[in-house]
Amino acid sequence: MTRSLRFGLVGTGYWARITHAPALAATDGIEFAAVWGRNANAAAGLAARYHATAYQDLPEFLAGVDAVAFAVPPDVQAPVAIRAARAGKHLLLEKPAALTVADADALADAVQQAQVASVVFFTARFQADVRAWEAEVTAAGGWAGGCAVWLGSALQPASPFNTPWRQDNGALWDLGPHVISLLWASLGPVRSVTAQAGLADVTHLILRHDSGVTRTATVTLSAPASAELTDLFLWGQAGRTAAPAQASDPVAPLRTALAELAANARSGQLSHPCDARFGRDVVRILADAQRQIGAHPWPGRNSG
Ligand SMILES: NC(=O)c1ccc[n+]([C@@H]2O[C@H](COP(=O)([O-])OP(=O)(O)OC[C@H]3O[C@@H](n4cnc5c(N)ncnc54)[C@H](OP(=O)(O)O)[C@@H]3O)[C@@H](O)[C@H]2O)c1
Repeated sequence: MTRSLRFGLVGTGYWARITHAPALAATDGIEFAAVWGRNANAAAGLAARYHATAYQDLPEFLAGVDAVAFAVPPDVQAPVAIRAARAGKHLLLEKPAALTVADADALADAVQQAQVASVVFFTARFQADVRAWEAEVTAAGGWAGGCAVWLGSALQPASPFNTPWRQDNGALWDLGPHVISLLWASLGPVRSVTAQAGLADVTHLILRHDSGVTRTATVTLSAPASAELTDLFLWGQAGRTAAPAQASDPVAPLRTALAELAANARSGQLSHPCDARFGRDVVRILADAQRQIGAHPWPGRNSG
């Protein structure tokens, strides 16, 4: 019988608690073995709930696992993931892979050099209904354009996602990765982006795919809960088709991502449609959009 792959979790925040920990504990072929967090009490509490071991020392944590799942801000994730890859650990990364092209390049290079498996958790790309929709879209072809609107409320004071890295970077870096990574296979890679900033953290993107198809996306985290909306559709010869709704339970797609990562780690098949190299390609588009809208697109963005 194949030995379970021992996973460690980096991060002990809300997302780690409600999604990563339960998914790690409920995926076949995986043992949730360790937790590392800068807050010793939070790491001990989360580890105890799952009969895992809490660590404060990163090398000790890495020594006890085969693979690492990340639930920390992207600028924290990238350098730790590079260390983990160099230590030979397979990587379940969060989106965005990094906040700079330099960090995303270094991470993709470290993964390539260490020959470890990697998956970036672009949630919708691991939803069964979205995968079926993307396959239908690819088969139908003839698309002329598309439109996405994602009005999120994560920056409202009561949201558990109102975290410092989102306050600093806004919807472009939080929701942008989801929107950009969708349809990458169906319409061809996103070749270029044109970006314009609106009020608050509102960002408008025009994405041009390799196939020549263009689509627009409007994203924000500053909407009131009463205005929340997630909508993405394509139109063309076959009429109009809308992407399935966002998964109400992110644990299921994360289990799929973990299972695919574990299968690749075992088989030595290291490339994946959502691997660290793809994560780097998405960061390049995000960074180009950020360059166009400037470093500080909205007043009071660091006010918390
Ligand atoms: N795929 C999805 O649909 C989805 C959904 C939600 C979130 N995410 C991703 O999950 C990641 C975490 O998001 P989040 O909202 O949970 O972020 P967060 O609350 O800002 O950070 C969560 C964890 O990171 C730790 N942390 C923050 N700064 C750190 C530092 N400098 N050094 C070490 N640890 C640090 C926090 O520690 P403390 O508790 O000590 O502050 C906490 O344990 C992000 O990449 C986000 O994009 C993905």
